[in-house]
Amino acid sequence: MPTTTQSWDPDGYARNARFVSDLGAPVVELLAPQAGERILDLGCGDGALTVKLAAMGCDVVGVDASAPQVEAARRLDLDVRVADGARLAFDAEFDAVFSNAAIHWMKPPDDVIAGVWRALRPGGRFVAEFGGYGCVETIKRALIDALRRRGIDGDALNPWYFPTVEDYSARLARRGFTVRYIALIPRPTPLPTEINGWLETFAQSFMAPLAKHDRAGFLDEVREALRPKLCDAHGGKWLADYVRLRFAADKPRA
Ligand code: BEZ
Repeated sequence: MPTTTQSWDPDGYARNARFVSDLGAPVVELLAPQAGERILDLGCGDGALTVKLAAMGCDVVGVDASAPQVEAARRLDLDVRVADGARLAFDAEFDAVFSNAAIHWMKPPDDVIAGVWRALRPGGRFVAEFGGYGCVETIKRALIDALRRRGIDGDALNPWYFPTVEDYSARLARRGFTVRYIALIPRPTPLPTEINGWLETFAQSFMAPLAKHDRAGFLDEVREALRPKLCDAHGGKWLADYVRLRFAADKPRA
């Protein structure tokens, strides 16, 4: 995850974002991993899904740009390495490249796709899910609006790439993949904590220009702007406006 202003704390991630891997079952199902397959988990984070693939009998390698997350994944006894998703250096060694909730952090997207292509053997598959067009739009707008009130251009701080089906299909096809399945899936997602936990975990890039002592006030302002839109007035539960892009694409055999 190559943004310079975003960092990952495995404890905070487990507290505020465990749902990210918990909700990974559909993309694992689409991958349909077979025992003995060699699989690259791109953006493996703390290894929560990597370990599941390993338990299914796959020979899994995980990569992630965050050294603390890789360290956490190593504690699960996994083969995980620190690597930039846009500069993968594997050569035709994987039956599948898998990714959950990570590719929206990786830019430029064509470099990611090219690295995945190189990493796959002929006949291999690329199966992934990440933020799709419109993902967390309400949250993003509130962050950008609060920054604008401070004279800061929040659009320039946006670390995420949330493509349409048309955009991503075209990129995959341009590199040579055959797109077998692709869909944009709205998935309003209940959060385990107040929205501040989510913002502290995922929205650090938007806070980079703010002095440390101004950040709590900024987050409170964003939370209150979001409350009428994303918080259930009765139960007090927060729902993030997630949209997923899920796909399976094949590298032809010859
Ligand atoms: C995710 O983990 O899927 C995610 C993170 C930040 C923004 C949107 C989605």
